[in-house]
Amino acid sequence: MHAPSPDRRHFLHAVAGSAALGLLPGAAAAEPAAPPSEFLLAPGVAYLNTGTIGPCRRATLEAAERAWVTLEANPVAHYGRFAGEALIEDARTVAARFLGCDLDELAVTTSTTSGMNAIAEGLRLAPGDRVLLTDQEHAGGLHCWQYLARHHGVLLDVVNIPRGEFDAGAIVDAMARRIGPATRVVSVSHVFSSTGLRMPIAELSALAHARGALCVVDGAQAVGAVRVNVRELGCDAYATSGHKWLMGPKGTGLLYIAREAQARIRPMAFEATYATYSASSGVVNLPGLLGLAEAIRFLERAGMPEVERRNLALRHALAERVRAMRQLTIVSPPAGALASPLLTLLLAERFDRSAVSRALLERHGVAIRATHPEFGFNGIRFSFHEFNTDGDVERAAVALRAELAG
Ligand SMILES: Cc1ncc(COP(=O)(O)O)c(C=O)c1O
Repeated sequence: MHAPSPDRRHFLHAVAGSAALGLLPGAAAAEPAAPPSEFLLAPGVAYLNTGTIGPCRRATLEAAERAWVTLEANPVAHYGRFAGEALIEDARTVAARFLGCDLDELAVTTSTTSGMNAIAEGLRLAPGDRVLLTDQEHAGGLHCWQYLARHHGVLLDVVNIPRGEFDAGAIVDAMARRIGPATRVVSVSHVFSSTGLRMPIAELSALAHARGALCVVDGAQAVGAVRVNVRELGCDAYATSGHKWLMGPKGTGLLYIAREAQARIRPMAFEATYATYSASSGVVNLPGLLGLAEAIRFLERAGMPEVERRNLALRHALAERVRAMRQLTIVSPPAGALASPLLTLLLAERFDRSAVSRALLERHGVAIRATHPEFGFNGIRFSFHEFNTDGDVERAAVALRAELAG
């Protein structure tokens, strides 16, 4: 466990014992484990867009760069050397520990999308088999099922999760009502990229299993943002990205397939073995994976419960600061079990979300994203991670007030 700095320790001590640790709306965030100076972010930019792509710390890039330079001196010899030194398995080893699974349940990929594709392909579903989804799935966790529907006669059942539905029990009930005898898979995001709602995955896994289905999770917006333990979630497969909340190199990803599910989910790429290099997976971006291992070790040292608490505190602080603005509505869940470090605001119709997002960056140096067109609402989304500060929250609030005035 990484020893907190004196100020951070003081803060932790000050809030220890509070039942509302970090969940207290408006609570001050602790000093970040990685101050903004450890990143290469452009000076003056409050980067609140980790949900789209996260920044790497300098140390992460240096770890990747060291490997890259060594490798390029004699590619064949050094690729073999990395393999010989077991460094090739660094990312898998540290990621398995981080996610709470065994090494032989964890494969490396290039993105959440590639992990979800591997799961869908590896299931070998038959015509008439059904997959249960929500209407909040991101393309990266949806296209694989749409492909099977288009080309293999698989049927998709899509449950509407209405905006403002913040009752976990009601969400599970809505999913339960749509499971039938032909449902083979329940596939959902752990955290919705639209509103940041954190789905009750443990309950949905139990539901799927009770009906003889598998539970597959798109964890792009969860791993590194909040504490994730795949065994506690009870799901059968879980795909995530290295380049978002883990703050790893771009084009890295992780795929968990529970041992018990491995006979039913057999992706072609991992047919030989889940090892980082195999006859069925081929050569991988080893420098990127060594950088990812460094990035995950950093989050381990910072401690995910503390990272999560701090991310939520920042997110709640912005929610409190903008709540009274009549030009917008908060569409993310309130503080509690369904909240995540994403905060999405629905803008009044007269505002164009892309223009507001652009103006926030160009006029105020606040980097966010406009909600994806496929979600069909006029929203903007803020992501809070380890390097963000109370000052970033303040800047975002001031910028919003300025841009939405009148
Ligand atoms: C929920 C969700 N799934 C999948 C993805 C795609 O991630 P990747 O680009 O790593 O495939 C995203 C990206 O924003 C996402 O939010």
